[in-house]
Amino acid sequence: MKHATLHQSFVTVDAVLRKALHELELTSPTPRLDAEVLVMRACDLNRSGLITRSEITLTNEQQHKLKSLLDRRKRGEPVAYLVGMREFWSLKLKVTPATLIPRPETELLVEKALEHIPENVEWAIADLGTGSGAIALALAKERSRCRLIATDLSPAALEVAKSNAEKLSLTNVEFRAGDWFAPFAGETLDMIVSNPPYIRTSDPHLKLGDVRYEPITALSSGADGFDAIRHIAQHAREFLKPEGWLLFEHGWDQAIAVGELLCQHSYRDMVFHQDLAGHTRVATCRR
Ligand SMILES: C[S@@+](CC[C@H](N)C(=O)[O-])C[C@H]1O[C@@H](n2cnc3c(N)ncnc32)[C@H](O)[C@@H]1O
Repeated sequence: MKHATLHQSFVTVDAVLRKALHELELTSPTPRLDAEVLVMRACDLNRSGLITRSEITLTNEQQHKLKSLLDRRKRGEPVAYLVGMREFWSLKLKVTPATLIPRPETELLVEKALEHIPENVEWAIADLGTGSGAIALALAKERSRCRLIATDLSPAALEVAKSNAEKLSLTNVEFRAGDWFAPFAGETLDMIVSNPPYIRTSDPHLKLGDVRYEPITALSSGADGFDAIRHIAQHAREFLKPEGWLLFEHGWDQAIAVGELLCQHSYRDMVFHQDLAGHTRVATCRR
């Protein structure tokens, strides 16, 4: 009888939340948030339901679903892939293992791009390596008269980005597959933005934590991490209108090398921007 009572209390939302938190503390850097998100997913609750419905009992199906999600999280799978979405710039974006999980730091790139795009202009703006569409869709939403062209080498990532645009009813974005500037032959653009891969292939962090599950082509870029950035810095000029803007994200320790590259290719008005942690992460410059 005592056992039955314990079992009964164990399966309320409140109880599974505490148990999930306890289990994830050993493996996750964000155990509370992860536990809440996974319990919400398994029990089909929103955040307020976690509190107002904390005493309801989980069905067997919900318990199995939660166990499976927790097991996968304990093995290291990112929560965003487990629930299939991540919020970026207040947009709910579908993400799959074909796409990078958009990072909060990348919102700095969006913020800086918006500072340079006047309201009501009808610019053509390229987002190179769009992944889930995060940057292109945020800019398309904020500047509805601009035309965004989002590209990626990965057709699977582009499919995700397209479905995000459809779900958000953003019609001023088009999608093109191809290697960096290949989809723009003969065109000129007002602005080029990119969050390219920039990690060294041998960086040990690629073998740790959540990034193990993300596409390696979205993360690493050659022996020194600069293959993509070098290519973009070298060729962006050919596709920019005079005075057109180039903005891209880079690694926290890459600003000096990025500055040298941009000087070498004669860009001007170069500025480097720091993220909230004080790391220089975004370069802006113009042709
Ligand atoms: C760091 S992820 C950025 C994804 C998205 N823009 C974001 O910020 O969440 C880099 C993206 O570049 C794409 N990529 C890698 N190599 C590429 C190439 N040669 N041409 C075009 N896209 C490429 C990857 O598939 C990936 O989606």
